[in-house]
Amino acid sequence: MILPMYIFGQPVLRKVAEDIEEDYPNLKELIENMFETLRHSEGVGLAAPQVGLAKRLFIVDLDCLSEDHPEFKGYLKTFINPEIVEFGKEMGTYEEGCLSLPGIHENVKRPTKVLVNYLDENFEEHEEWFDGFPARVIQHEYDHLDGKMFIDHLSALRKQMLKSKLSAMAKGKFEAAYKCKANR
Ligand code: NI
Repeated sequence: MILPMYIFGQPVLRKVAEDIEEDYPNLKELIENMFETLRHSEGVGLAAPQVGLAKRLFIVDLDCLSEDHPEFKGYLKTFINPEIVEFGKEMGTYEEGCLSLPGIHENVKRPTKVLVNYLDENFEEHEEWFDGFPARVIQHEYDHLDGKMFIDHLSALRKQMLKSKLSAMAKGKFEAAYKCKANR
């Protein structure tokens, strides 16, 4: 089932999300629905707050890029109660977008490597280094669990330049090709 995407202005996107217990009802179904929603909206990552749930869960689907990047064939990952244990020292800049911020794309500087401790969809614990594009996506999604969005990383000047676009978005004025939950 495709879930509606919560758009900037919806309070759940600014909440610090809570851990998920193993007996969380219909968790498998929720994860399946999130993957379906992500594929439908042509994104690479989706966090639970973006579908209205303040829970510490996000998914990453890089398989959609595997035509040009064969290393991402079958790259579908679920992160439950993740923690970023360590950041690499090197920084990189890359243009990010977000399904909850349709039409906004900005360069964001982040560490290029992260060590993440997380539970997978079977509640098996992993501790794993990620680098390059996966590290970028994971940090972006992880931010959502703390009520943060990529625009929070921008300079005061860039934020100022986006101000009117964001306030219009919060009032429901934006275009998106997927089902949305917004103030309209
Ligand atoms: Ni996002």
